Amino acid sequence: MTITARQATEAVQLRSVRKTYGTGDRAVTALDGVTLGFPVGTFTTVMGPSGSGKSTLLHCAAGLERPTGGTVVVDDTDLGPLTERARTILRRTRIGFVFQSFNLITALTAEQNVGLPLRLAGRRPDPALIRRTLEQVGLADRATHRPAQLSGGQQQRVAIARALATRPAVLFADEPTGALDTVSSREVLRLLRDIVDTHGQTVIMVSHDPVAAAYSDRVVFLADGRVVDVTAALGPASIAARMASLEA
Ligand SMILES: Nc1ncnc2c1ncn2[C@@H]1O[C@H](COP(=O)(O)OP(=O)(O)OP(=O)(O)O)[C@@H](O)[C@H]1O
Ligand SMILES: [Mg+2]
Repeated sequence: MTITARQATEAVQLRSVRKTYGTGDRAVTALDGVTLGFPVGTFTTVMGPSGSGKSTLLHCAAGLERPTGGTVVVDDTDLGPLTERARTILRRTRIGFVFQSFNLITALTAEQNVGLPLRLAGRRPDPALIRRTLEQVGLADRATHRPAQLSGGQQQRVAIARALATRPAVLFADEPTGALDTVSSREVLRLLRDIVDTHGQTVIMVSHDPVAAAYSDRVVFLADGRVVDVTAALGPASIAARMASLEA
């Protein structure tokens, strides 16, 4: 197999990734040798009990934290040897991250928030691209609104537009519907599904919610920092049953 063939298949690869916080008696192993690939154009949900390492996995895979051991490859770049500066640049240009709490800048309008990552990457935001990105999340008519003038679901969709503005290789979302009501949650999940189906985006989401996980293609179950199961997202009932068995 040629390198090129392998390159096209996985947006993110983790190999034997370990993460330990603290030292000595106080050391906590958050990730205990995780090996996983995330194929291009697929939607994966990471599930597992509280403290099982889901956020740590996302942060290591997104270059927000450095693992204690192992290898993280994003968009064919091994993050290990990169300097802090190179990692920041990669994060700003190739990775999108969506948080539970939206993290929008309150003083900026929706379109200014969406343009921010491009400005940080030293590019002048193209108004047409910003408009298209807001259209993609169904908010073309809210471009000049500030976060306080938007509903929670709309704010999260602006945050998704912001994460997509640089056309990243992978979009990470840590509990993106955790702060939303049922209706807004569904809108956000349908949007993530659509981004994968229509644009071939790779999405990696953390969620506690079996209904949310059922929107994805695949569910990775973590327990005590290890991958204990990888299954197709068959439906909320079977996902809930698998979660219950892990929490028992
Ligand atoms: N900065 C930190 N310093 C020390 N320990 C940490 C730190 N961050 C996480 N941990 C520990 O690592 C383990 C995994 O944490 P992580 O946040 O990844 O869990 P999680 O699966 O996302 O949990 P939750 O569902 O509650 O969000 C936990 O035991 C946690 O206490
Ligand atoms: Mg977490």
